[in-house]
Amino acid sequence: MNQPAMQGLNLNTPAYVKNAKLIAWVADMVALCKPDTVYWCDGSDAEYQRLCQQLVDAGTFKKLNEAKRPNSYLACSDPSDVARVEDRTYICSAKEENAGPTNNWMEPSEMRATLQPLFDGCMRGRTMYVVPFSMGPLGSPIAHIGIELSDSPYVAVNMKIMTRMGKAVFEVLGTEGDFVPCVHTVGAPLAEGEQDVTWPCNKTKYIVHYPETREIWSYGSGYGGNALLGKKCFALRIASNMGRDEGWLAEHMLILGVTNPEGKKYHVAAAFPSACGKTNFSMLVPPAGFDGWSVTTIGDDIAWIKPAADGKLYAINPEAGYFGVAPGTNMLTNPNCMLSVRGNTIFTNVALTDDGDVWWEGMEQDAPGKALPDHLIDWQGKDWTPQIAKETGAKAAHPNSRFTVAATNNPALDSAWDDPKGVAIDAFIFGGRRSTTVPLVTEARSWVEGVYMAATMGSETTAAATGQAGVVRRDPFAMLPFMGYNMSDYFQHWLDLGKKLAASGATLPKIYTTNWFRKGTDGKFVWPGYGENMRVLAWMIDRIEGKGQGEDHVTGISPSYEDLNWTGLDFSADQFNTVTSIDKAAWLKELELHAELFKQLEHHLPKELGETKAEIERRLAA
Ligand code: OXD
Ligand code: MN
Repeated sequence: MNQPAMQGLNLNTPAYVKNAKLIAWVADMVALCKPDTVYWCDGSDAEYQRLCQQLVDAGTFKKLNEAKRPNSYLACSDPSDVARVEDRTYICSAKEENAGPTNNWMEPSEMRATLQPLFDGCMRGRTMYVVPFSMGPLGSPIAHIGIELSDSPYVAVNMKIMTRMGKAVFEVLGTEGDFVPCVHTVGAPLAEGEQDVTWPCNKTKYIVHYPETREIWSYGSGYGGNALLGKKCFALRIASNMGRDEGWLAEHMLILGVTNPEGKKYHVAAAFPSACGKTNFSMLVPPAGFDGWSVTTIGDDIAWIKPAADGKLYAINPEAGYFGVAPGTNMLTNPNCMLSVRGNTIFTNVALTDDGDVWWEGMEQDAPGKALPDHLIDWQGKDWTPQIAKETGAKAAHPNSRFTVAATNNPALDSAWDDPKGVAIDAFIFGGRRSTTVPLVTEARSWVEGVYMAATMGSETTAAATGQAGVVRRDPFAMLPFMGYNMSDYFQHWLDLGKKLAASGATLPKIYTTNWFRKGTDGKFVWPGYGENMRVLAWMIDRIEGKGQGEDHVTGISPSYEDLNWTGLDFSADQFNTVTSIDKAAWLKELELHAELFKQLEHHLPKELGETKAEIERRLAA
């Protein structure tokens, strides 16, 4: 029998790797996981091409038509492995109260004992890829290094796009530098001579974080946020712990630059739950009538935000690529994104056209006559025709299908996207997906009121996580699936930061809430969204400049119909009323849900939030 680790498997450590702690850890993990070989990624383009070819040979990747979609691939996952698994995600802090009531928790030594037999020999028959990556610009004082050990070449090539990945990381790490150790396995060891499947994974899944020791262990899934450990696991769950300890924020936020016709530039960080249009908003194209305005992208999903000596909050995008939701994306909803994925893109779980290109629901908008394709191979490898779709409701692309593409492909990329210093934030936006109740846009009257609105945010669930889609759940700060510690302590952290900045005499960023998703009595969205969101963004900028008007109401300040610029859009005052009206009965119910949330989070819940709720109730009664 082949027992490489026991025979002292060669770690293949390159001469340029000099970090003793790293080498010792890799040796330990090799002894545990027992891969056949160890390969250290150098991050080169040649390596990327080689691994992609290897994935093509294994049947995991299909190379797309070079003339239509150059240097691009399609991967279709196992049908059971298509989204983040929140019920299998754990925060294993030493004390249960530090994980808090919104996280799954297991005592760390118990979890280690649970994982030990699963990881023992989990990489048999496979290669262990050592993936060195930097979250944030290489060598920047706000960046952090991670090393992911994975038995998935799909992970290695996605990490090359999503992070600053490769050899240069070891130079930054040096002999003594620190890193976040991330171990990932698809959990499908191969017996000698056993034929591999195209998407190995395991029914059993564990996505585990040890916040105190800053470790990540992921078992059984090859998909997105479960497997690309730099993203949700490191940049949000582990980094939120770093942020709490060190006085900064790790947030589920896009970052954009917006320049007005006077040439003045502002920066906005916006939190929306998964699959609620963060990528679209970060690449927004101002509509006709907004001449002189422009929007540029710094990041589309995650922001690390640190206070600087000038009293301002500076944000960087720790990622280097976008892992965005494909369905619904087209030249109308997000032209910059469509241009970004013209080539050099990995697609996962979209449909394949007969001429070797990709397709997803929503792309018919870009076809002549808005026609559906006659025939496709759907994400599960089955025939798809408009007739089949009509009869069975089958989707050609999975609703959570994705593209992985480098930020540098984005025509709207901000020139400061890679600036190690980051960009100074002028406003925060928190946006949920709500068919009713929550108005189009509201400005908080104070930092505390803004924190309250963010903390009590509700949103209808989407396909980005397994479980039922479309039910309203509280999603504080759009961080519910990504919080690495106790949610109430996190609210306190935001309040403390506000107090600290105010005490230094700084002007705090304004805080807004938005809801693009109100529906009419016909069940259809009323607000046109996408590029038209510029009208709301422009109002926010006007407010920041002290020019924009608004009206006080129970939860903050909102524009009246005449306060928005309607040039180029036919949107009546009645329609505006449908997306902005505040229904007293609906808000009384909403406040009951806030009360339920506060009950769940009562341990360490900041008293300011209860006081703000009482204030809203007083206003509502008046
Ligand atoms: C994502 C998510 O993949 O939020 O960004 O699910
Ligand atoms: Mn996200």
